[in-house]
Amino acid sequence: MLLHLEDINKSYIQGKMDVPVLHDINLDIEEGEYVAIMGPSGSGKSTLMNIIGCLDKPTSGSYVLDGNEVANMKDKELSIVRNKCIGFVFQNFNLLPRQSALQNVELPLQYANVPRRLRKNLCVEALTSVALEERMSFKPTQLSGGQKQRVAIARAMVNSPKILLADEPTGALDSKSGIQVMGLFEKLHNEGVTIVMITHAREIAEYADRIITIFDGQITSDEINKNKVVVKHSDNASEVNAAQENSAVVKGTNEPNIIEKILNADSIYDEFEDENSFEAEESFEDYSNDNGNLSGDNDGAKAEGFAASGVNGGER
Ligand SMILES: Nc1ncnc2c1ncn2[C@@H]1O[C@H](COP(=O)(O)OP(=O)(O)OP(=O)(O)O)[C@@H](O)[C@H]1O
Ligand SMILES: [Mg+2]
Repeated sequence: MLLHLEDINKSYIQGKMDVPVLHDINLDIEEGEYVAIMGPSGSGKSTLMNIIGCLDKPTSGSYVLDGNEVANMKDKELSIVRNKCIGFVFQNFNLLPRQSALQNVELPLQYANVPRRLRKNLCVEALTSVALEERMSFKPTQLSGGQKQRVAIARAMVNSPKILLADEPTGALDSKSGIQVMGLFEKLHNEGVTIVMITHAREIAEYADRIITIFDGQITSDEINKNKVVVKHSDNASEVNAAQENSAVVKGTNEPNIIEKILNADSIYDEFEDENSFEAEESFEDYSNDNGNLSGDNDGAKAEGFAASGVNGGER
């Protein structure tokens, strides 16, 4: 079993109140499965994904990921697990805006200390597999929504993780770009990648083999998808690119902390000494300042971000 969650509970502390969000979640996912998690807004999907993705810890319960109990791991250990095992895709892409597609895809390799000479080939391969070999030098602002999401998928997969975790991956896209993203997921699934995809849209969930429904923090159904939809594959890059014009432009709510966290910057490989690490650090700072998300003392804010427990904030 690749993922084994047993009696997982999660509460947030809100003021003095304890807000229970997930209740006794029991879930097993085997290697190579393609699972959709559905549920209405506020049902706890992202909270569950953050736990599955080791971005946050459960309040209680056991989570065994690829043979290792991770529920009680320290943040640093979790970042190593994330780096090895999991690729992330989010609704709002979470790309660094001042970096090219190629540089965005390269970042996780830098943080994993992959030698420079190998990195370029891996990035070109990853971007080619999402039909973006002709857009490698483009910055996110020069890409459509669908193209940005494909860069994010290339970045998620460039380290060859076993698991792809996606939170509303088509939520910000027009339907055509959404279908292309589903086509890429299908290709990855056929290559053996385990996919866990969160969506509130039934038509998107139907691309998966198994659909789990969550309601008020509890799993209310867990079924084989009998209406599985399969994407007709187009390996023709120009065809894929031609369909981009109508992609929705979305104002992301990107937070530098999340990007750093999914890339495992800072918390892993402290002794990292590649000259390019400076580029990456600078870009986080530029980005933070651009967005006004972090105030003057960037280092302080960054440290705080890492000390903060999890994506959603308070934890118990
Ligand atoms: N940091 C937090 N502190 C307190 N409550 C939180 C926190 N983060 C999330 N919650 C609560 O947990 C519940 C589940 O939130 P979650 O983000 O997991 O929902 P979701 O199913 O992903 O919703 P959506 O479809 O809108 O993204 C919500 O009621 C939310 O208010
Ligand atoms: Mg959510």
